[in-house]
Amino acid sequence: MSQQDWWKTATIYQIYPKSFCDSSDKGMGDIKGITSKLDYLGLLGVDAIWLTPVYASPMIDNGYDIADYYAINPDFGSMEDFDELLEQAHQKGIRIIMDIVVNHTSTQHEWFQSALGDKQSPYRDYYIWKPGRNGQASNNWQSKFGGSAWALDEATDEYYLHLFAKEQADLNWENPAVREDVKRVIEFWAQKGVDGFRLDVINLISKQQDFADDHIGDGRRFYTDGPRVHEYLQEISEAVFQKYGSVTVGEMSSTTLEHCQQYSALDNKELSMVFNFHHLKVDYPNGEKWTKADFDFAQLKQIFNHWQTGLNGKGWGALFWCNHDQPRIVSRLGNDTRYHNESAKMLAASVHLMQGTPYIFQGEEIGMTNPGFTELSQYRDVESLNMYKLMVEEGTTSHDEMMAILQQKSRDNSRTPMQWNSNTNAGFTSGTPWIGIAENYPEINAQTALQDQQSVFYFYKELIRLRKTVPVITDGSYTDMFPEHEQVHGYLRENTDTMLLCLNNYFGKETEVALPESFVALTGQQILSNYGLEGTVTLDKKMVMKPYETVAILINK
Ligand code: GLC
Repeated sequence: MSQQDWWKTATIYQIYPKSFCDSSDKGMGDIKGITSKLDYLGLLGVDAIWLTPVYASPMIDNGYDIADYYAINPDFGSMEDFDELLEQAHQKGIRIIMDIVVNHTSTQHEWFQSALGDKQSPYRDYYIWKPGRNGQASNNWQSKFGGSAWALDEATDEYYLHLFAKEQADLNWENPAVREDVKRVIEFWAQKGVDGFRLDVINLISKQQDFADDHIGDGRRFYTDGPRVHEYLQEISEAVFQKYGSVTVGEMSSTTLEHCQQYSALDNKELSMVFNFHHLKVDYPNGEKWTKADFDFAQLKQIFNHWQTGLNGKGWGALFWCNHDQPRIVSRLGNDTRYHNESAKMLAASVHLMQGTPYIFQGEEIGMTNPGFTELSQYRDVESLNMYKLMVEEGTTSHDEMMAILQQKSRDNSRTPMQWNSNTNAGFTSGTPWIGIAENYPEINAQTALQDQQSVFYFYKELIRLRKTVPVITDGSYTDMFPEHEQVHGYLRENTDTMLLCLNNYFGKETEVALPESFVALTGQQILSNYGLEGTVTLDKKMVMKPYETVAILINK
């Protein structure tokens, strides 16, 4: 593996600055707060930080609505603060990955402000405008945050497209000037010395140009992995990513394996790797997010198998459970009370030992949970509030039902402040936090975790270390050993010298697995366990697995 491929043995830590650490008393985190925690990240052992957007923004979607790509949001600090973070992180050997949001801009961006109400503006064609039909938008596409994807510009009587909030207007990538500006933006940050880019909903940038009505869906099939998306990515990659050797990860919404094989193809013509979300829809019955549901374990294993075998040798994927859009995994698929420690560790091992680059979302490494909000007034997220309006005020869902759904599904579940210690406000701020803090912070916090060698924190630290020292975790093939088992996600990683047997019990009930004949009597080394390491073991036909047990056994061939 070349130095260029450093990210194949790396683990990346995602920071959501607003909720990470407040260096003042504003009640929201900032860049200086991040710099003050670099030693903590160094101790965990992560290789890079993915910083979610810190640019100037009205914060309708917490920074994913960018008003100026070249400026830092004053609430997060200054460009000097950013430069200082970059320098100090680099000194500690931690790389910085910036979040680039170029499917859309904020409607406060000067391009949109110039385009609005003025068909002659040089920036009019930076966005997507269509005349209405009988006082309605020109097609029936739906916004991902609910309602029509079009909003009216009264002065010109045309509608602009917004696949997300109406304050996030989609850019028109068909216009070469847009693509030139996008390259300028990315190059500005590459020149500063940032190491890579996470590209927000990047597979939505190319829309089918007939903008037809969608009679069977919400319109996504007309702009997801669209007609020119690969061409656009190759263009940006050649102009900037390849020139600067940037690592890149594309956020791919509702994508397919075939497209991802191309986005992340090993010839590096487009991106280094991809995020896909299929494994995080296993609790969306019939694709429906806004309903309370258990997860479908059989489906989860099928999805892992499909992507692990499909990308091996062809492309590269990100491995993750958590981010700022997803509820906390220990509350979602694990058990955040009785088996908090065991299930948090098992879930970590289950994804970290597959092929790809693991991402840890702030607080995941200490097993942070959903906060269990009970009042609508506790929520801040634009998507959650929109859905409440649509489903309760204008729809048929009752308030109580919706509160139960939000408790399980809202993006705010992951956005509550990082729990640093048991002091006031979990050590996050000395002011009033912008969003509530989970009540369990006196027990679940970084300080407590650091004092306990059995904590979830040290388990993540070990996973990060193993990835760097056990090559089969990076380069081995993947075989699902028990596709039919009702509780165990068991897989084999294998390269020419070694095999790594990974067994994960996803439930709070003991169970057993029967190993294939060829494994019986083999000797291996337990390299990971959440019930105490046993060292050298000889494999038996039958293996008993305790509640939420995870174990990984390395076998030399
Ligand atoms: C991505 C971001 C999400 C944001 C959306 C629109 O999915 O992760 O937070 O709301 O894009 O930019």
